Amino acid sequence: MKFKSAKFYDLYAKPQIYAANALMQTLKDYRQNFDDIYEIGAGSGVLTRLIMENLSYENLLLNDLYESEFMSKFSTQIGDITQLKIKNKQDLIISSSVFQWINALENLADKLKFSLKSGGILAFSIFIDGTLKELSSFTNQSLEYKNLDQLKAIFSKNFEILNAQESQIKLKFNNLKELLTHLKHTGVNNIKGEFKLTKSSYEALNSHFNDDFSLSYKFAILILKN
Ligand SMILES: C[S@@+](CC[C@H](N)C(=O)[O-])C[C@H]1O[C@@H](n2cnc3c(N)ncnc32)[C@H](O)[C@@H]1O
Repeated sequence: MKFKSAKFYDLYAKPQIYAANALMQTLKDYRQNFDDIYEIGAGSGVLTRLIMENLSYENLLLNDLYESEFMSKFSTQIGDITQLKIKNKQDLIISSSVFQWINALENLADKLKFSLKSGGILAFSIFIDGTLKELSSFTNQSLEYKNLDQLKAIFSKNFEILNAQESQIKLKFNNLKELLTHLKHTGVNNIKGEFKLTKSSYEALNSHFNDDFSLSYKFAILILKN
């Protein structure tokens, strides 16, 4: 994961921007007023800006592994969400394009339930199985993406499911170089650890795409009530 160096994230993060917008539009159908909102993995603020534009609230607390420049103007709680204790009981816990990095989602679901007021909402988007399948078929590596049914099974133990849906976007590039630049700037590449492109693997990857330089992103949105 290389988000700290992903300086051009907002320019290149079309799938994440799309997922954050879809999450906010879906959430608004259920509730728009909250006292305390906690955002997990705020990063450069793609979802935070939508929270500010679309919801009314008293307090907003932002979490991430690192404090981005954007986050420095807000109240923050920095650290791994799986390790830290969320301050206060929240009305809304929200997160976009983060939970695919978390392996033990069952444990996180338990923790988030405890950190929400009764009737509080947990709303998130998460990349799911099928994301960057074009790369995984080449590298034989992938994040362990869940599918929508697995997510529903995990979260229905603790929450009432108000909405659970999946959606997909496909990005098209003119050539391999553009595609790789996109991956570099979003910090997401499906590759665990190091994968160095040599001249010959670059050429192999080029023919793997067979003149169709597209990448698929599949994500789920869940709106859950405590
Ligand atoms: C793909 S970015 C999404 C940022 C923003 N939410 C958006 O919608 O564009 C994922 C963010 O999750 C953060 N993150 C990943 N694992 C985390 C964890 N265990 N605890 C807190 N933040 C985490 C990363 O540092 C990164 O900023």
